[in-house]
Amino acid sequence: MGHADPLAQTAAAAAMANDSHAMDNFWMPFSPNKEFKQEPRMFVKGEGMYLWTPDGKKLIDASSGLFCVAAGHCRKEIAEAVYKQLNTLDYTMPFARAHPNAFKLAQEVAEFTPEGLDRVFFVCSGSEAVDSAMKMALAYHRIRGQGHRQIFISRERAYHGVNMGGVALSGMVNNRKVFGVGLPGVYHMRHTALPQNKFVKGQPEHGADLADDLQRYCTMYGGENIAAVFVEPTAGSFGCLPPPVGYLNKLRAICDQHGILLVFDEVITGWGRMGANFGAQAFGVTPDLMCMAKAITNGAQPLGGIAVRTDIYDTITNAGPAKGIEFFHGYTYSAHPACTAAGLAMMKIFREEKLIDRAAALAPYFADALFSLKGLPLVTDIRTIGLMGAVELAVDGNPGVRGHEFQKRLFDAGVNLKATGDNLIVAPPFISEKSHIDEFVGVMRDVISKG
Ligand SMILES: Cc1ncc(COP(=O)(O)O)c(C=O)c1O
Repeated sequence: MGHADPLAQTAAAAAMANDSHAMDNFWMPFSPNKEFKQEPRMFVKGEGMYLWTPDGKKLIDASSGLFCVAAGHCRKEIAEAVYKQLNTLDYTMPFARAHPNAFKLAQEVAEFTPEGLDRVFFVCSGSEAVDSAMKMALAYHRIRGQGHRQIFISRERAYHGVNMGGVALSGMVNNRKVFGVGLPGVYHMRHTALPQNKFVKGQPEHGADLADDLQRYCTMYGGENIAAVFVEPTAGSFGCLPPPVGYLNKLRAICDQHGILLVFDEVITGWGRMGANFGAQAFGVTPDLMCMAKAITNGAQPLGGIAVRTDIYDTITNAGPAKGIEFFHGYTYSAHPACTAAGLAMMKIFREEKLIDRAAALAPYFADALFSLKGLPLVTDIRTIGLMGAVELAVDGNPGVRGHEFQKRLFDAGVNLKATGDNLIVAPPFISEKSHIDEFVGVMRDVISKG
């Protein structure tokens, strides 16, 4: 019986409960460490739509882990592919060495990306994808004699990961407050959460004009000095803010006018979450670079990527020496064999189970179910798009207090989901049946109704 066995994990959890120092060493990420260590909420097993706690309680996973597990938990095909790979070639240096699956996965990823975004750079996370894309933008401009393009534009209420570039781009106050601005020369457009956009299913009608903020920055700082604009097609971590109709098209047009690269951060919106392969296809706007991660391996291995326009790749590689490195960037674990094996297994699941079509077909039912919570006294807004939605609760004293409390109450009542501020964020696996949606929405109704 190995440590991964649920029974062994359960025994480990029980032993920890009797050892007051057993949880001291692990510094948990993005977590209330002190509170968690007093009242831990752990899982020891996952299968399909469900997760199990050490004491055998079963919870439905309404957020696909952290937007990762599109195909449901513990897919055997992925586990077996990773096991086989680790027993065949566990690791190879990714610099000036490679393994065939890295090329194969890039080719298969390019079958899902918009036409023209067909060069794929692999990393290990969404944060790395974002910072890598920033470097690609700088390199591309510099090679073309436009090294003066040093400014980046993003948005309020955006989340672009935790590396220094991403922290600078993010518009999340708590993420920046402690670390400062991250990088100088990053400016934020306004977000699109307008009062008139409350309780809207899909794309709201109002707010395309907020894209004019980009034009204002172009006028103020010179469009010729801006390297790239980073946006999530739908702001995810901050509570599901779909783009107003016409908003992304407008950003695209302004970028084209000034030679600015448009980067979509599709770490959450990619791989079917919006009801199409990527947000780019769902909203009919093609960026120049696209960041991805999370569902690319169903969350089973850490893998991210950047899909890049062919001519951007050509510009950077052709400018390099005939036999030397062209782009001084990469990670020890770029295109790790175990991660690419998981990615290839997931691509097969996407294709064979038509998972993205399935997510699209379920989206209207999901939206109606979530909107059935409208009218509950604490619910101040509901937003949905594809298989993602947010139920926003009234602030209780300080922002985030109620969201945090309700996320714990929902756990105790049998639903696992993420809360950001006072938004309960729902993003179920694409294998969901209507009955699963009814199940977690029913529990949400009970818990929220109790106040
Ligand atoms: C849009 C977006 N970008 C970047 C990231 C960072 O990804 P990671 O946590 O894999 O570094 C996230 C994570 O949720 C995200 O939602």
